[in-house]
Amino acid sequence: MHRLVFRLPEMDEQPAPIVIVVLGPPGAGKGTQSSLLANLLRIPHISIGNLLRWHARDESEVGVRLRGMMALGQLVPDTLVLDVLATRISEPDCTRGLILDGFPRTLKQAELLARGLLKSPFYANNLGENLVALHLRVQQDTIVGRLSGRRICSRCSATYHLESQPPRVTGECDFDGSALTVREDDRNATVLKRLHIYQQETAPILSHYAEKASLLEIDGEQPQENIAQELFMALQSMLRVSMVGAKSARNVQSTLDDNL
Ligand code: AP5
Repeated sequence: MHRLVFRLPEMDEQPAPIVIVVLGPPGAGKGTQSSLLANLLRIPHISIGNLLRWHARDESEVGVRLRGMMALGQLVPDTLVLDVLATRISEPDCTRGLILDGFPRTLKQAELLARGLLKSPFYANNLGENLVALHLRVQQDTIVGRLSGRRICSRCSATYHLESQPPRVTGECDFDGSALTVREDDRNATVLKRLHIYQQETAPILSHYAEKASLLEIDGEQPQENIAQELFMALQSMLRVSMVGAKSARNVQSTLDDNL
């Protein structure tokens, strides 16, 4: 069951863009749920980690530095994160809203978001105004099991798990047939470091959003489809005005079946 702490928005005539911030420790299922929700709500899933990993492939000085920081599980400097994010949210698919997976990750980033630092031609107001934060709660043992079994597509970044979400053909991505790989930062020692950084830097954001009455708590230990359904239903009743264009509740199960 989730604990819902949210202030219902006023009924607007025009649907306002929504910003869904997905929070939780490494391996909580942020990417998995963001991707399912993006499909259900028809708004883009913006994974800061994936964007940074894409930049880290570059052989430039920045790319090499980025690779090193991410392999060690360290946070990347704000200037780079904000630059990458601002570029992405200025793309046309963000008009109706977006799902932010991996941002904010510090109180400072949360404040920057609330202060409207991330400006986009699509948002008259600042991005923090119509925001819901989701928190996926999971135990440390679960995290270790999930990250040790995670595999990602080397080309499109689709995520799999050796047990809970295996690919149709062993070692190959269902979407493009590319090789599946282990993320550099999923090695045991780095996972522990990432968990430590999460507790120090990111966990305090939860009370920040709870105080603003925009936090939705979800039990992330459940099967993926149960979490997605619970999130979708809760969001639909909270943000019904903003969710014009989202799939109807009737179609949720069939969409989940297609995606899992
Ligand atoms: P990022 O890529 O965002 O990593 P993370 O936050 O550590 O989260 P993960 O991607 O590891 O896990 P997830 O919660 O998305 O879980 P997933 O759905 O894959 O960031 C990486 C790095 O980038 C950071 O360390 C930092 O260096 C940098 N960075 C990013 N954002 C930054 C920022 N704002 N500022 C500064 N630096 C930043 O699921 C995990 C596994 O579990 C999968 O195999 C999946 O199939 C499986 N699974 C998921 N849900 C379930 C379920 N319900 N039941 C069973 N298995 C499940």
